[in-house]
Amino acid sequence: MTPIWVQHLFVLGMLLGGSHTSTSAADSWCYGDAQCGPATWAALGQCNGTKQSPININASAAVRAPQLGALKLTGYGDAKKLKDMQNTGKTVYVHLEDGLQLSGPGLPATYTAKSFHLHWGQGPDQPGSEHRINNQQFAMELHIVHTKNNLSVVDAAQDPEGIAVLAFFLQATDKAQPSRSWGNFTQCLKKVPVEGEDTDVDGSFSLQDLLGSVDLARYYRYRGSLTTPNCTEAVVWTVFPDPIVVQKDVVTAFASTLHSTDSESGPLLKNNFRSVQSLGGRQVQASAALGTAHSASPAPRSAALIPLLLSTAALAWHL
Ligand SMILES: *[C@@H]1O[C@H](CO)[C@@H](O)[C@H](O)[C@H]1NC(C)=O
Ligand SMILES: *[C@@H]1O[C@H](CO)[C@@H](O)[C@H](O)[C@H]1NC(C)=O
Ligand SMILES: *[C@@H]1O[C@H](CO)[C@@H](O)[C@H](O)[C@H]1NC(C)=O
Ligand SMILES: *[C@@H]1O[C@H](CO)[C@@H](O)[C@H](O)[C@H]1NC(C)=O
Ligand SMILES: *[C@@H]1O[C@H](CO)[C@@H](O)[C@H](O)[C@H]1NC(C)=O
Ligand SMILES: [Zn+2]
Repeated sequence: MTPIWVQHLFVLGMLLGGSHTSTSAADSWCYGDAQCGPATWAALGQCNGTKQSPININASAAVRAPQLGALKLTGYGDAKKLKDMQNTGKTVYVHLEDGLQLSGPGLPATYTAKSFHLHWGQGPDQPGSEHRINNQQFAMELHIVHTKNNLSVVDAAQDPEGIAVLAFFLQATDKAQPSRSWGNFTQCLKKVPVEGEDTDVDGSFSLQDLLGSVDLARYYRYRGSLTTPNCTEAVVWTVFPDPIVVQKDVVTAFASTLHSTDSESGPLLKNNFRSVQSLGGRQVQASAALGTAHSASPAPRSAALIPLLLSTAALAWHL
């Protein structure tokens, strides 16, 4: 992230030079404003490429991949691995200590989690996830960013499979149980109301606490890009269709606590999602536990499905 003093130098440079000379992606893009919003990103990095993210996932068109079993996450339950939380003006980032490892079928190596961040809309009624399932947009989306073999993000961007992102949806309902971890997370947000602010995370929740009981065997897999400039096409995406269910005030907190500039009287940070990109010739795979016919309603657990399949097989044998 750009340190504050660099941002200050930049502002000083603008005041002295009187013109905007920056060409780096970090300074030249935004979400809300027509001058720098997503419609203008095509000129930056690979944003006009053919393997961009996010996408809409058409569940019935996904190719079933029986080899795609459950992912293995190691160390995600350790609350001490959450280092600090930062408002970047574009999202809220949590940096992670060394030691969270991701591996699993279809991943060519072990990946190390570096950070996570979120995308949101304008509260529970105006969704802001990036990916969509059967054109359904969810309230929010959590991205855990990993690199292959612990490469730096810059080096990983040079490898077509250098980055692995896990994407989890958040959905708000009236019936959701209060969540201590999401409550603690939103308390933390209050310490970083404006762009550039940073706070230590207090160790009161782990990444696993935030994920709750989402089934790590049920996911979609495809090759795409980072969803912010320079939109590098180096990402193996894993998208979990079963949302993390939270209370409405959690979703409300994101869109009403954080600001996108360094002033609390400035605009709120909201609608920080990119619209869906064309799938083109790419294939989306469905993990073994998902199958091809995923519906929006909770699917039967695989354990419940096995006796059903066995009895169907037995019946077929008797005939
Ligand atoms: C984006 O790609 C399309 C198709 O390849 C091309 O026609 C268009 O000029 C490109 N736009 C920019 C800004 O590069
Ligand atoms: C995008 O950024 C990464 C790392 O910041 C860099 O390695 C890569 O070359 C950039 N790609 C493009 C197309 O600018
Ligand atoms: C989803 O995929 C199915 C099967 O390929 C296709 O018939 C349908 O038109 C697709 N729906 C959308 C909205 O693209
Ligand atoms: C992973 O990379 C980080 C940052 O470069 C480094 O501090 C750490 O020691 C590395 N961990 C391992 C196990 O190599
Ligand atoms: C985390 O949340 C619990 C329950 O809401 C609360 O009792 C606890 O004080 C919180 N911890 C911190 C460090 O905020
Ligand atoms: Zn993201």
